[in-house]
Amino acid sequence: KKILFFKEIPSTQDEIKKRASSEKSGLVVLADRQTQGRGRLARAWFSPRGAGLYFSILLKGPLAQPITLYSLATAVGVARGLEQLLDIPVKLKWPNDILIKQKKIGGILLEKVPEGLVIGVGLNVTFKKENLPPDIREKASSIFLETGIIFSRPQILRAVLVELEKIYEKLLEEGFNAVEDAWQKRDVTKGSKVVLKRGEEILKGQAIGPTPKGELLIETNKGVITVSSGEILMWE
Ligand code: BTN
Repeated sequence: KKILFFKEIPSTQDEIKKRASSEKSGLVVLADRQTQGRGRLARAWFSPRGAGLYFSILLKGPLAQPITLYSLATAVGVARGLEQLLDIPVKLKWPNDILIKQKKIGGILLEKVPEGLVIGVGLNVTFKKENLPPDIREKASSIFLETGIIFSRPQILRAVLVELEKIYEKLLEEGFNAVEDAWQKRDVTKGSKVVLKRGEEILKGQAIGPTPKGELLIETNKGVITVSSGEILMWE
Protein backbone atom coordinates (compact mmCIF):
# COMPACT_ATOMS: atom_id res chain seq x y z
CA LYS A 1 0.00 0.00 0.00
CA LYS A 2 1.29 3.40 -0.89
CA ILE A 3 1.00 6.23 1.60
CA LEU A 4 2.29 9.69 0.79
CA PHE A 5 2.92 11.88 3.78
CA PHE A 6 3.05 15.66 3.75
CA LYS A 7 3.87 17.97 6.61
CA GLU A 8 1.65 20.65 5.26
CA ILE A 9 -0.57 20.88 2.20
CA PRO A 10 -3.76 22.76 1.39
CA SER A 11 -5.93 19.62 1.40
CA THR A 12 -5.28 15.89 1.05
CA GLN A 13 -8.34 15.79 -1.23
CA ASP A 14 -6.74 18.16 -3.71
CA GLU A 15 -3.39 16.41 -3.50
CA ILE A 16 -5.04 13.11 -4.47
CA LYS A 17 -6.96 14.76 -7.28
CA LYS A 18 -3.74 16.08 -8.78
CA ARG A 19 -2.30 12.58 -8.73
CA ALA A 20 -5.43 10.64 -9.65
CA SER A 21 -4.55 9.95 -13.25
CA SER A 22 -0.96 8.85 -12.63
CA GLU A 23 -1.30 6.93 -9.36
CA LYS A 24 -2.83 3.55 -8.67
CA SER A 25 -6.08 2.88 -6.90
CA GLY A 26 -5.65 2.66 -3.15
CA LEU A 27 -3.21 5.55 -2.83
CA VAL A 28 -3.41 7.24 0.56
CA VAL A 29 -2.37 10.84 1.11
CA LEU A 30 -1.79 11.89 4.69
CA ALA A 31 -1.03 15.34 6.07
CA ASP A 32 0.17 16.55 9.42
CA ARG A 33 -1.60 19.81 8.82
CA GLN A 34 -3.95 21.17 6.16
CA THR A 35 -4.13 24.84 5.39
CA GLN A 36 -7.37 24.52 3.44
CA GLY A 37 -9.01 21.42 4.81
CA ARG A 38 -12.55 21.05 3.53
CA GLY A 39 -15.65 19.60 5.10
CA ARG A 40 -18.97 18.71 3.57
CA LEU A 41 -21.34 21.41 2.37
CA ALA A 42 -18.56 23.86 1.55
CA ARG A 43 -17.38 24.17 5.13
CA ALA A 44 -13.80 24.38 6.31
CA TRP A 45 -12.28 21.47 8.21
CA PHE A 46 -10.07 22.77 10.97
CA SER A 47 -6.79 20.88 10.55
CA PRO A 48 -4.06 22.09 12.89
CA ARG A 49 -0.74 20.30 13.21
CA GLY A 50 -0.62 17.20 15.29
CA ALA A 51 -4.16 17.32 16.69
CA GLY A 52 -5.96 15.27 14.09
CA LEU A 53 -5.66 12.62 11.45
CA TYR A 54 -6.25 13.98 7.97
CA PHE A 55 -6.08 11.62 5.02
CA SER A 56 -7.64 10.81 1.67
CA ILE A 57 -7.91 7.62 -0.32
CA LEU A 58 -8.10 7.20 -4.08
CA LEU A 59 -10.50 4.57 -5.39
CA LYS A 60 -10.13 4.27 -9.13
CA GLY A 61 -12.46 2.76 -11.66
CA PRO A 62 -16.16 2.96 -12.38
CA LEU A 63 -18.22 3.03 -9.20
CA ALA A 64 -19.69 -0.40 -8.68
CA GLN A 65 -22.17 0.89 -6.10
CA PRO A 66 -24.09 4.11 -5.49
CA ILE A 67 -21.84 6.79 -4.03
CA THR A 68 -23.91 7.02 -0.84
CA LEU A 69 -23.04 3.42 -0.09
CA TYR A 70 -19.36 4.33 -0.17
CA SER A 71 -20.21 6.96 2.40
CA LEU A 72 -21.84 4.50 4.75
CA ALA A 73 -19.14 1.91 4.13
CA THR A 74 -16.40 4.40 4.97
CA ALA A 75 -18.17 5.41 8.18
CA VAL A 76 -18.53 1.77 9.19
CA GLY A 77 -14.89 1.03 8.41
CA VAL A 78 -13.69 4.00 10.44
CA ALA A 79 -15.96 3.03 13.34
CA ARG A 80 -14.67 -0.53 13.34
CA GLY A 81 -11.07 0.59 13.21
CA LEU A 82 -11.59 2.95 16.14
CA GLU A 83 -13.50 0.39 18.16
CA GLN A 84 -10.52 -1.93 18.05
CA LEU A 85 -8.51 0.65 19.95
CA LEU A 86 -11.18 2.18 22.16
CA ASP A 87 -13.41 0.16 24.37
CA ILE A 88 -16.46 2.32 23.88
CA PRO A 89 -18.91 2.21 21.01
CA VAL A 90 -18.51 4.50 18.06
CA LYS A 91 -21.79 5.79 16.64
CA LEU A 92 -22.69 7.03 13.19
CA LYS A 93 -24.96 9.79 12.01
CA TRP A 94 -26.18 9.65 8.43
CA PRO A 95 -24.54 9.98 6.03
CA ASN A 96 -21.10 9.87 7.60
CA ASP A 97 -20.45 11.64 10.86
CA ILE A 98 -18.39 9.71 13.37
CA LEU A 99 -19.57 10.16 16.93
CA ILE A 100 -18.38 9.21 20.38
CA LYS A 101 -20.83 9.87 23.20
CA GLN A 102 -23.07 11.93 20.87
CA LYS A 103 -20.24 14.25 19.88
CA LYS A 104 -18.78 14.46 16.43
CA ILE A 105 -15.15 13.41 16.45
CA GLY A 106 -14.74 12.83 12.75
CA GLY A 107 -16.15 13.35 9.30
CA ILE A 108 -15.93 11.96 5.80
CA LEU A 109 -15.93 13.79 2.50
CA LEU A 110 -16.52 12.02 -0.80
CA GLU A 111 -15.71 13.67 -4.08
CA LYS A 112 -16.16 12.22 -7.54
CA VAL A 113 -13.35 12.61 -10.04
CA PRO A 114 -13.14 11.34 -13.63
CA GLU A 115 -10.92 8.48 -12.43
CA GLY A 116 -13.26 7.38 -9.65
CA LEU A 117 -13.70 8.53 -6.11
CA VAL A 118 -11.65 10.50 -3.58
CA ILE A 119 -12.56 9.71 0.01
CA GLY A 120 -11.34 12.03 2.74
CA VAL A 121 -11.36 11.22 6.42
CA GLY A 122 -10.76 13.71 9.21
CA LEU A 123 -10.54 12.54 12.82
CA ASN A 124 -10.06 14.78 15.84
CA VAL A 125 -7.52 12.85 17.85
CA THR A 126 -5.93 14.99 20.55
CA PHE A 127 -7.86 18.27 20.39
CA LYS A 128 -8.51 19.91 23.75
CA LYS A 129 -11.65 21.91 24.24
CA GLU A 130 -9.94 25.23 23.82
CA ASN A 131 -8.40 24.12 20.52
CA LEU A 132 -11.78 23.64 18.91
CA PRO A 133 -13.18 26.66 17.07
CA PRO A 134 -15.93 28.27 19.21
CA ASP A 135 -18.65 27.73 16.61
CA ILE A 136 -18.24 23.94 16.72
CA ARG A 137 -17.37 23.52 20.40
CA GLU A 138 -20.91 22.47 21.28
CA LYS A 139 -21.20 19.58 18.87
CA ALA A 140 -17.62 18.61 18.18
CA SER A 141 -15.11 16.81 20.28
CA SER A 142 -12.06 14.61 20.01
CA ILE A 143 -11.11 11.06 20.81
CA PHE A 144 -8.95 12.38 23.65
CA LEU A 145 -11.76 14.50 25.12
CA GLU A 146 -14.20 11.61 25.10
CA THR A 147 -11.86 8.84 26.25
CA GLY A 148 -9.08 10.58 28.14
CA ILE A 149 -6.56 8.70 26.07
CA ILE A 150 -4.04 10.12 23.64
CA PHE A 151 -3.78 7.62 20.82
CA SER A 152 -0.98 7.71 18.32
CA ARG A 153 -2.18 8.79 14.94
CA PRO A 154 -0.27 6.07 13.04
CA GLN A 155 -1.94 3.48 15.25
CA ILE A 156 -5.38 4.83 14.41
CA LEU A 157 -4.54 5.15 10.73
CA ARG A 158 -3.38 1.56 10.54
CA ALA A 159 -6.48 0.17 12.23
CA VAL A 160 -8.81 2.25 10.09
CA LEU A 161 -7.09 1.46 6.78
CA VAL A 162 -7.26 -2.28 7.43
CA GLU A 163 -11.00 -2.04 8.03
CA LEU A 164 -11.58 0.23 5.05
CA GLU A 165 -9.80 -2.12 2.71
CA LYS A 166 -11.95 -5.00 3.92
CA ILE A 167 -15.24 -3.19 3.67
CA TYR A 168 -14.62 -1.71 0.22
CA GLU A 169 -13.89 -5.19 -1.05
CA LYS A 170 -17.05 -6.52 0.53
CA LEU A 171 -19.03 -3.61 -0.84
CA LEU A 172 -18.06 -4.56 -4.37
CA GLU A 173 -19.35 -8.07 -3.91
CA GLU A 174 -22.35 -7.57 -1.70
CA GLY A 175 -23.53 -3.99 -2.02
CA PHE A 176 -25.79 -2.82 0.79
CA ASN A 177 -25.49 -6.18 2.58
CA ALA A 178 -21.86 -5.40 3.25
CA VAL A 179 -22.79 -2.45 5.42
CA GLU A 180 -26.38 -2.84 6.56
CA ASP A 181 -25.98 -4.61 9.91
CA ALA A 182 -22.86 -2.75 10.93
CA TRP A 183 -24.51 0.55 10.05
CA GLN A 184 -27.80 -0.21 11.84
CA LYS A 185 -25.96 -1.22 14.98
CA ARG A 186 -24.26 2.17 15.25
CA ASP A 187 -26.85 4.42 13.67
CA VAL A 188 -28.10 7.30 15.83
CA THR A 189 -30.20 8.75 13.04
CA LYS A 190 -32.82 6.06 12.83
CA GLY A 191 -36.05 6.86 14.61
CA SER A 192 -34.96 10.35 15.55
CA LYS A 193 -36.71 13.59 14.75
CA VAL A 194 -34.81 15.36 12.06
CA VAL A 195 -34.76 18.72 10.42
CA LEU A 196 -33.27 18.53 7.02
CA LYS A 197 -32.00 21.34 4.91
CA ARG A 198 -32.21 20.59 1.21
CA GLY A 199 -31.13 23.63 -0.75
CA GLU A 200 -33.48 26.33 0.47
CA GLU A 201 -36.08 23.87 1.59
CA ILE A 202 -36.42 22.89 5.25
CA LEU A 203 -38.01 19.50 5.90
CA LYS A 204 -39.05 18.07 9.21
CA GLY A 205 -39.76 14.48 9.96
CA GLN A 206 -38.67 11.26 11.51
CA ALA A 207 -35.77 9.29 10.12
CA ILE A 208 -36.67 5.74 9.16
CA GLY A 209 -33.25 4.51 8.12
CA PRO A 210 -31.13 3.95 5.04
CA THR A 211 -32.38 2.54 1.75
CA PRO A 212 -30.40 -0.17 -0.07
CA LYS A 213 -28.72 2.66 -1.97
CA GLY A 214 -27.63 4.31 1.25
CA GLU A 215 -30.05 7.20 1.00
CA LEU A 216 -32.02 8.21 4.05
CA LEU A 217 -35.76 7.61 4.30
CA ILE A 218 -37.61 10.26 6.25
CA GLU A 219 -41.24 10.27 7.16
CA THR A 220 -42.56 13.80 6.81
CA ASN A 221 -46.05 15.27 6.81
CA LYS A 222 -45.81 15.21 3.04
CA GLY A 223 -45.17 11.48 3.05
CA VAL A 224 -42.01 9.41 3.00
CA ILE A 225 -39.14 11.03 1.16
CA THR A 226 -35.73 9.81 0.12
CA VAL A 227 -32.73 12.00 0.77
CA SER A 228 -29.38 11.39 -0.87
CA SER A 229 -27.46 14.37 0.43
CA GLY A 230 -27.82 17.36 2.65
CA GLU A 231 -27.56 17.72 6.35
CA ILE A 232 -29.60 16.80 9.34
CA LEU A 233 -29.66 19.87 11.48
CA MET A 234 -31.10 18.48 14.67
CA TRP A 235 -32.17 15.25 16.11
CA GLU A 236 -33.53 14.06 19.39
C1 BTN B 1 -17.27 16.64 7.22
O1 BTN B 1 -17.72 17.74 6.85
O2 BTN B 1 -17.69 16.09 8.23
C2 BTN B 1 -16.20 15.97 6.41
C3 BTN B 1 -14.81 16.34 6.85
C4 BTN B 1 -13.70 15.71 6.03
C5 BTN B 1 -12.32 16.22 6.40
C6 BTN B 1 -11.22 15.46 5.74
S1 BTN B 1 -9.63 15.81 6.44
C7 BTN B 1 -8.84 14.93 5.13
C8 BTN B 1 -9.59 15.30 3.86
N1 BTN B 1 -9.05 16.52 3.27
C9 BTN B 1 -9.93 17.52 3.32
O3 BTN B 1 -9.72 18.68 2.89
N2 BTN B 1 -11.08 17.11 3.88
C10 BTN B 1 -11.03 15.70 4.26
